[in-house]
Amino acid sequence: MHFMSTNVAPFSRSFAIRRIHSLFGLWIVIFLLEHLLTNSQAALLIGENGEGFIRAVNFIKNLPYLHAIEILLIGVPILYHMIWGIAYVIQAKMNSFPASQNKPVLAKFGRNHAYSWQRITSWVLLIGIIAHVGYMRFYMYPVSVNTGKNSAYFVRISMDPGLYTVSDRLNVTLYHKQAIEEVKQQIESHEQELQTLSRDFEKLQESPPPHLYQKNTGQLMDRYQNLEDQKAYLKGLEKRKISGNEVIAEANNFGTATLLIVRDSFKSIFKSILYTIFVLAAVFHAFNGLWTFMITWGIILKMRSQSRAVNCCITLMMIVGFLGLASIWGTYYLNLRN
Ligand code: HEM
Repeated sequence: MHFMSTNVAPFSRSFAIRRIHSLFGLWIVIFLLEHLLTNSQAALLIGENGEGFIRAVNFIKNLPYLHAIEILLIGVPILYHMIWGIAYVIQAKMNSFPASQNKPVLAKFGRNHAYSWQRITSWVLLIGIIAHVGYMRFYMYPVSVNTGKNSAYFVRISMDPGLYTVSDRLNVTLYHKQAIEEVKQQIESHEQELQTLSRDFEKLQESPPPHLYQKNTGQLMDRYQNLEDQKAYLKGLEKRKISGNEVIAEANNFGTATLLIVRDSFKSIFKSILYTIFVLAAVFHAFNGLWTFMITWGIILKMRSQSRAVNCCITLMMIVGFLGLASIWGTYYLNLRN
């Protein structure tokens, strides 16, 4: 009897992990595109003086289940790609640099350089993503206070001459140290009244029904709520300590508060340069990665389609890179400075 041997390789775990890593890579490219498109609108010429950025950020902020979206659609794919990415980078054998330990050194091939830079940019991105999320999502993140109908968003920024016109245009109130102290004194002067109202309500609750229907209960409740709101407002205002030439800016929407943070960050040449390196690394990694992704998944097989795809990826790299750099250099230096 004759048996035909089936030449099908078993579906290995490491193969599946590589494919998921690759798919998540593509997913992050899409996210990067959206992210830099949104951010570029913080810059002059593109974003209607920041209005486009504010609208886009507010739209995202108002999405339902935003936390779940952030964790499942952004956090998990990036973490997965990062963790397995570190493992792959450590195992990688670069052969495009003369000083490389690996023999032979094949520096004349462009693809070998791209392979090396895909791995070098991984380290830049690893540090960059952690620092960026820590800085923007936690350290600088606006403090929000919701008082029934109104919301206030507080951010700590440094003062500069252009900030006055920017705040006027964006309907932002600036508080320096002394102004905060004055608000505090004013609000604290109502403390006694608040205590009394609070005691009155307690008594009212204990009294037999229909205690909630007394003549002026509604007015007193409004007043009580108003004083409580003021206290919450003060807490938000005081949450971040300021020093030297810093101020607390209050915006009435999250997008405006975020725009102020971006503007403040890119006032610093040092941060602007760091972010420039970060963006260049991200767009190289993303669009060189997009090209290797298309090969990994058998989308571009012929030499001709591969070289055409290289041109597409370089064009995309330049466009998205421009969007990223526009938000860094166009938000303060070219736009909202004055
Ligand atoms: C802006 C964030 C990032 C984006 C948009 C991104 C995107 C991509 C894409 C599309 C690929 C190609 C996948 C393929 O060839 O099938 C890729 C590959 C790779 N990424 Fe990322 N990535 C990012 C961050 C990172 C980080 C932080 C690390 C590691 C710490 C990393 C490590 C790697 C490695 C090692 C590869 C090559 C995998 C291989 O060829 O087998 N990436 N990335």
